[in-house]
Amino acid sequence: MQGKKLNIGVLGCGPIAQFAHFEACQKGRNVALFAICDKAVDLVQQMEMMWKPVKTYLDYATMLEDPEIDAIIIATADALHVPLALQAIHAGKHVLIEKPLSHSLEECIELEECAERNEVVVQVGHMKRFDEGIAYAKKFVDKTLGEIVALKAWYGDNTHRYTMTDNVQPIPFKSTMAVKPISDPKADPERYYMMAHGSHLLDTAQFLAGSIGSVQAHLRTIQDIWCWFIDVEFASGAVGHLDLTIKIRGDWHEGFQVYGTGGSVFAKTYNPWFYKSSEVQCYSEDEKVSYSPLAADGFSYRLQLEAFADVIMSGDPMLGTSIREGTEITRGMIAIHQSIQDGKRVYLDQLKATAI
Ligand SMILES: NC(=O)c1ccc[n+]([C@@H]2O[C@H](COP(=O)([O-])OP(=O)(O)OC[C@H]3O[C@@H](n4cnc5c(N)ncnc54)[C@H](O)[C@@H]3O)[C@@H](O)[C@H]2O)c1
Repeated sequence: MQGKKLNIGVLGCGPIAQFAHFEACQKGRNVALFAICDKAVDLVQQMEMMWKPVKTYLDYATMLEDPEIDAIIIATADALHVPLALQAIHAGKHVLIEKPLSHSLEECIELEECAERNEVVVQVGHMKRFDEGIAYAKKFVDKTLGEIVALKAWYGDNTHRYTMTDNVQPIPFKSTMAVKPISDPKADPERYYMMAHGSHLLDTAQFLAGSIGSVQAHLRTIQDIWCWFIDVEFASGAVGHLDLTIKIRGDWHEGFQVYGTGGSVFAKTYNPWFYKSSEVQCYSEDEKVSYSPLAADGFSYRLQLEAFADVIMSGDPMLGTSIREGTEITRGMIAIHQSIQDGKRVYLDQLKATAI
């Protein structure tokens, strides 16, 4: 497939497709927005006018029969991710699935087995790995930082975030015909915030410091502020602290620090809709010098899609979140919930539940 563009079919014309995926397909150096699909006919018509895909579909199974489509982006509600991804894999398509991968470990395992059997590429849409600042920090951690001693990471969504993002995002088109999952994903805020935001935090932590062995979590809620403080032990022996706080009275607050035997990393991450890469400072103890990349390209959703296409077309290594890593994130979220319920440290290989 060298030299060709990967033909993408986007399933779902909801907000995330409108804000990120259509534009990423249109601007990506090695991809083409070939098809879009949604059961909501008004959304499809509107998006066809705006983004000019080659084809449109109202029925997913029919889109999957199209031999010209190489890969599917699944941009639907969380609960639908895995069943729809399985359908795509059975049709021989590669899949980029929006995050979080799934609420259930059984689903994750079924997906991994199915992807392996069918030899397709499946990547989970944790696009922060493609924030050029975070990507630079990861290379520095691997090459220069030495053994990781500790990682602190924080993700604070704020009360004013929509005041800020409404100014830079288009007004999304909505449809009363849109398919919704059986239960309202926002009905339980503890679960919803963990799935929507905590999954990003766990991905950043394990991207930089490897898999998590155990967690001891505390949750404080007051006046609609949700604050998780999570003590982490990584499998490597590194210690960690994760802070997930929703509705901070203040600005968006995201970043991380990593301490290693050969240096340290300090990072400030911006809300992704500002298209500004993280500011990172990577200090090397050998050189007594800090490095801070410009990281000019801040469209992480496009960068993740280009990297996904490079895996498929050029056999490049997968830089994005694999199914196995997506599964570990689900395991981590279940462990955090269990730790809050039981008031104890929870080891990720000794969970009582298999779903969150
Ligand atoms: N990576 C990020 O930063 C980020 C940001 C926001 C949302 N997300 C994720 O993106 C996903 C989608 O979010 P959203 O707000 O756009 O969802 P949404 O539910 O509002 O929209 C999904 C669309 O998919 C369509 N759809 C669902 N099943 C279908 C089917 N079988 N056939 C045809 N059409 C179907 C629906 O009609 C709907 O229009 C979620 O998992 C969310 O967590 C990720």
